[in-house]
Amino acid sequence: MTSGGDCPGMNAAIRAAVRVALSLNMEVWGIKNGYAGMTANEFIPLDSRSVGDIIQKGGTFLGTARSEEFKTSAGRQRAFENLKRRGIEGVLVLGGDGSLTGAAMLGELGMNVVGLPATIDNDIYGTDYTIGFDTAVNTAVDAINKLRDTASSHGRVMVIEVMGRHCGAIALTAGLAGGAESILIPEEPFDLDSVCKQLLASKNAGKQYSIVVVAEGVGSALKIGDTIASKTGLETRVSVLGHIQRGGAPTVFDRMLASTLAERAVFGLAAGVTQVMYGVHAGRIVPTNIHDAVTKKKNFNEDLCQLSGMISK
Ligand code: F6P
Repeated sequence: MTSGGDCPGMNAAIRAAVRVALSLNMEVWGIKNGYAGMTANEFIPLDSRSVGDIIQKGGTFLGTARSEEFKTSAGRQRAFENLKRRGIEGVLVLGGDGSLTGAAMLGELGMNVVGLPATIDNDIYGTDYTIGFDTAVNTAVDAINKLRDTASSHGRVMVIEVMGRHCGAIALTAGLAGGAESILIPEEPFDLDSVCKQLLASKNAGKQYSIVVVAEGVGSALKIGDTIASKTGLETRVSVLGHIQRGGAPTVFDRMLASTLAERAVFGLAAGVTQVMYGVHAGRIVPTNIHDAVTKKKNFNEDLCQLSGMISK
């Protein structure tokens, strides 16, 4: 099942999970549209051919949703009974924190559940990378490269808003890799006056244009752009990248991450593992209690902030 916001690599994970499960002689069902489909009894049988030609595609062929009904105990009970009636013995949930929280709740009802971190936000405790993050930051950097062309031609400040909900991981990584002069993220307090002073100092030091990357979690890039324009007098434009960051063919990294985590998840379910999320740490696949995955806070990489400050001058 895929749930919550889609991300590139979900299809690669489904494909691997289905084929590994079939190789273990399991019967495999897909649930349409996340928890909404689980409560509405929307299940489809999956065989090897039904997951063909999807490894390279973004999105999720199972569909996804953010379900309000599953948040109620009656909705969860209905979903649990739908699973039981079909003789389903284990559920693999792919999604972000909301989806994994749902998986933990389903586990409490007595269903075996294993989760995989799949969200562009890279905000899940227990894994260095979430499935979809690498593709999203590559998309964002591609956009930054293009916006540099027009910013440099006009000598402008280009303010670029990226996704990430409350987390600055996309902004920090795409900003650093895209050579941004300034990166504004929720994890690091910032002062817009200092940002403006820095932009003017850059201009005076010979920089023809500047890139400012703003994580959506710090507020509207449009407002930040207006403030920068009025405080510095520099010609400024704003670009909100939005859902373009969620689409597109998954990178090799995301396909590999998705496939290897899915394999481990299916092996786990086959061995009776439950309430676990598999992630990756220092290149190795690691299990994390699913309750910890959704309640503990992921460490933020302070070093990258410092590096970005140092090399953007
Ligand atoms: O969690 C993924 C994400 O793309 C966030 O970065 C963003 O805040 C949110 O989903 C957008 O959600 P929706 O697609 O429901 O508007």
